[in-house]
Amino acid sequence: MRYDKADPLFREKYGPYALIAGASYGLGGAFSEALARRGLGLVLLAREKERLESTARRLKEQYKVEVICHAVDLADYEKTKSLVTGLGVPVGLLVYNAAFAPIGLFEDISEEQLALAAAVNVKTPLLLAKLLAAPMIARGRGGMVLMSSLAGAQGTPKLAAYAATKAFNAILAEGLWKELKPHGIDVAGCRAGAVLTPGYRRAEKTKAAPGSLEAGEVAERTLRALGKGPLVIPGAVNKLAYFVMTRLLPRRGAIALMSKNTGGLS
Ligand SMILES: NC(=O)c1ccc[n+]([C@@H]2O[C@H](COP(=O)([O-])OP(=O)(O)OC[C@H]3O[C@@H](n4cnc5c(N)ncnc54)[C@H](OP(=O)(O)O)[C@@H]3O)[C@@H](O)[C@H]2O)c1
Repeated sequence: MRYDKADPLFREKYGPYALIAGASYGLGGAFSEALARRGLGLVLLAREKERLESTARRLKEQYKVEVICHAVDLADYEKTKSLVTGLGVPVGLLVYNAAFAPIGLFEDISEEQLALAAAVNVKTPLLLAKLLAAPMIARGRGGMVLMSSLAGAQGTPKLAAYAATKAFNAILAEGLWKELKPHGIDVAGCRAGAVLTPGYRRAEKTKAAPGSLEAGEVAERTLRALGKGPLVIPGAVNKLAYFVMTRLLPRRGAIALMSKNTGGLS
């Protein structure tokens, strides 16, 4: 993919600053880099301070853009909110990338893990979208990318709670896409297939799934699709898989197929 062909008006539409929640490495790092390449200032959030600061330094030096970074646990919405409220810079684009995926049989997953998935994957993206929509509406422009997953297109055994949170993000994006469009705000849910990030490699210990993509390609395809519709599915294999799972197979067939794919997860 040619990275120099991005929309030259991107910064005018979605700048001056993009906030990337879960920004230091993997897909979040790739979104941050793709946005720096487009000349946007960055607000980077992640938990581990050193890694975050090193990403921030690198992007600042390489792309000559303003980079603000804050170490914060997105599971703590109140802390995240007070940090974002006090930023003092206009945020024109929200990319909500971070997620927590408790893997395994439902009976073996603790209440704490389920609550963490609900906080990081549902509560914080929902309330951050609410917090940032108001100033975007006032400015009459902006954008939001909410990370979903093919895993959230149907029930996914051994990833049941995670998949349900990913369904939530895709459906939230669809509703906001329609509602915020008249205000000049583009919203997209990204239903990614397998992305070769550290998070994916930790969970999938055998070979990568068909249609796996590098994080840079997923970020680039998603940002290019922003404004063109409520849903982005990066990659031809993943588009086909989504079509088969949601349109061709009966619901129980789709769940059974997913179960075969996630059976080896532990
Ligand atoms: N990887 C895949 O195959 C795949 C497939 C479909 C969809 N997705 C979706 O794509 C997104 C990225 O997934 P990924 O697992 O591959 O992760 P990733 O892009 O590798 O991102 C992890 C980033 O989020 C930060 N982060 C994680 N938990 C956080 C928390 N509680 N608070 C603040 N920052 C946090 C991490 O930094 P710290 O650790 O320092 O906090 C890191 O910067 C997720 O929404 C996921 O559902 C991924």
